[in-house]
Amino acid sequence: MFVFIRRMIKQELKDDYYRGSMYNILLRLKFFIIFILIANIVFADTLGKEEIENKVDTLLSKMTLQEKIGQMQQISFWGSVEDLRETIKNGKVGSFLNASDAKSTYELQKIAVEETRLGIPLIFARDVIHGQETIFPIPLGQAASWNAELIEKAARVAAVEATATGIKWTFAPMIDISRDPRWGRVAESCGEDPYLTSKLGAAMIKGFQGKDLTDPTSMAACAKHFVGYGASEAGKDYNTTFIPERQLREIHLKPFKEAVDVDVASMMSAFNDINGIPASGNKFTLKTILRDEWGFNGLVVSDWASMTQMIMHGFCEDEKEVAFKSIEANIDMEMASTSYIDHLETLINEKKIDAALIDNAVKNILRLKYKLGLFENPYTAIPDSKVARQEEHLKVAEKLAGQSIVLLKNKNEILPLSDDFKKIAVIGPLADNALEQNGCWVFEGFGKDGITPLTALKEKFGNDKEVIFAKGLKSTVDSDEDGFADAISAANKSDVVLLFIGEDAFLSGESHCRAFLNLPGAQEELVSKLAATGKPIITIIMAGRPLTFEKIESEVDAILYAWHPGTMGGPAIADILTGVETPSGKLPITFPRSVGQIPIYYAHHNTGRPAESVDRSVPLGTPLNPKGFASFYLDVDISPAYPFGYGLSYTKFDYSAIKIFKEKYKLGEIIEVECLLKNLGNYNADEIVQLYIRDLSASAVQPVKLLKGFQRIHLKTDETKTVKFSIHTDELSIHDAEMESVTEPGKFKIWIGSNSADLLESEFEIIK
Ligand code: BGC
Repeated sequence: MFVFIRRMIKQELKDDYYRGSMYNILLRLKFFIIFILIANIVFADTLGKEEIENKVDTLLSKMTLQEKIGQMQQISFWGSVEDLRETIKNGKVGSFLNASDAKSTYELQKIAVEETRLGIPLIFARDVIHGQETIFPIPLGQAASWNAELIEKAARVAAVEATATGIKWTFAPMIDISRDPRWGRVAESCGEDPYLTSKLGAAMIKGFQGKDLTDPTSMAACAKHFVGYGASEAGKDYNTTFIPERQLREIHLKPFKEAVDVDVASMMSAFNDINGIPASGNKFTLKTILRDEWGFNGLVVSDWASMTQMIMHGFCEDEKEVAFKSIEANIDMEMASTSYIDHLETLINEKKIDAALIDNAVKNILRLKYKLGLFENPYTAIPDSKVARQEEHLKVAEKLAGQSIVLLKNKNEILPLSDDFKKIAVIGPLADNALEQNGCWVFEGFGKDGITPLTALKEKFGNDKEVIFAKGLKSTVDSDEDGFADAISAANKSDVVLLFIGEDAFLSGESHCRAFLNLPGAQEELVSKLAATGKPIITIIMAGRPLTFEKIESEVDAILYAWHPGTMGGPAIADILTGVETPSGKLPITFPRSVGQIPIYYAHHNTGRPAESVDRSVPLGTPLNPKGFASFYLDVDISPAYPFGYGLSYTKFDYSAIKIFKEKYKLGEIIEVECLLKNLGNYNADEIVQLYIRDLSASAVQPVKLLKGFQRIHLKTDETKTVKFSIHTDELSIHDAEMESVTEPGKFKIWIGSNSADLLESEFEIIK
């Protein structure tokens, strides 16, 4: 290297232009050193990879067939460590899920490392979906923050807390595109949009996995459920899906491809069947696309017994066929059911499957264990750790809960609460329930230390204001109106009502789907009774999905949609109500007016007869609708209750002067567009600026709008900023008839604005 530098300096000195210019020499040197450093990193990385591959191969060569198949089994922790000792000693397990305390993971690992022939460490998995002990908002709520950086931080916190108990693998993020709010698992998703889900899913993966998987606080992420699970028919869990290949690629696979691009360590196959082939035995999606097209060599785990459930689907006759079809589809590890361990050996002996299939699966498993540094450091648990729920963790949870809250209505700017309100009625089944505000998929957090809105508001108001609390209903599903009298009396004694309603945690999540999306129990009645008092009503809805609440919308003055906000939901909501924070969340999913509109999403195709606006006042006796034959319902408006991307602020943002830099762009160029954003109101605030495009005429029909960018911009009052977006023409690609990804020349519309229905418009053309 020094010889090279000397030569370079000599060369410099010979050059007239540079002679005497030590500055330039140093500058060149600097670039050279940077180059060497980058080359070193890349080289070291390649070396690291090669070293791991060598280790994997060496270990594999020492393993018996039974040991290999044992690695492919994941067991749910049950009973005690002793109950499982023989299974581990006999090499019949590669991973446990649901072993989640530091003591058990340590003891189980000790058996694997010290009492098995090859000492291969176990990997402990858990559904750390939105936090381990510090609970963040449900993923759908997190998505409403549109804040990838903050979401990454939250996932980092979750990893720090989970790894302290020995967990090195989380079954998250769930990046299923979810367009049906009846589906209970919409709560676990980032909503309806492939672009938003891709970016936020990638942020979660980065947060869980950290900078380097060998870091003791890193855990492997698992992108799930591969694939199409979010399209379960009629929003009923585990249901059939029918997804044409173009839609599969452009909608459902998008976030998974992004996950592969950011090096997700693992994937989970889904429960649903796709066009008749169950996702867990689907060679086309799991092998052709994931392995062959995308080159994914991470670990693919089945979902809980999703392999043996292929018998119920009617796709396999028995568990032997299950094992055959799953290994052929390249599933590496079987969760909970035991078709691999029971039948793979026979399938090999009968020469029905190639031994290389098993070797490959085991390589994927061992590779991950090496990558996680488990061979060098198998005991990652920190006994009696005080890691969880540290001050900084709670701060991230509070910030994310705050940014996830969406202001849907604010009549006469009643929010933030005026100082004139001295007596505050806090009412509702969700005002003081630390458990329910956490939402679905919470194990270790379980309401522990969660701060409810009632507690937070009392603390905030101190002696300045009087808080009068009445539950009104025992839970969100309670239909007993006995508690109404107390609630009405509390309202009558107060200047304003803060009403906390919505859905208890059990109403969303896996297998918790709903056919009606109205506020359950007697909550609507409670709202009406309180409205009749004439007091201003501020409604805070906590729920795991979009609800339909048109009926109460007109009865209340303000609506804050807080999802299930987690441990720090109370303080976050209190800060927003009192104006310490300004709401900035935007909906990551369209809110329907009624269940009959579902599926309703912004990126739909145009029909040949789109309806603009619909006059539904058809006079009786009229044989046909005078408005003609367009695509609408007679009994509900075509617009949603709230569009994708929607969310108000206490301040007012003005969008103007959209400017596209060129009218025509060549393929391969970067499209640049900008607009001015001004804060016209009285609050410093964040605005999420959204960019959409439409390919106006293509070889296959394209959505009427597609999100292609977003930025969270902070503006002080009166401040104006130019917000600029740059998109490469490749990002406008579609799938042609041969399913090739191409950007087709032609005209495009482009929009910037505050939600998918309120946008400034421009256009450009792509040319060859
Ligand atoms: C769910 C998965 C989850 C797994 C393990 C399944 O029922 O579908 O998302 O990771 O259980 O708990």
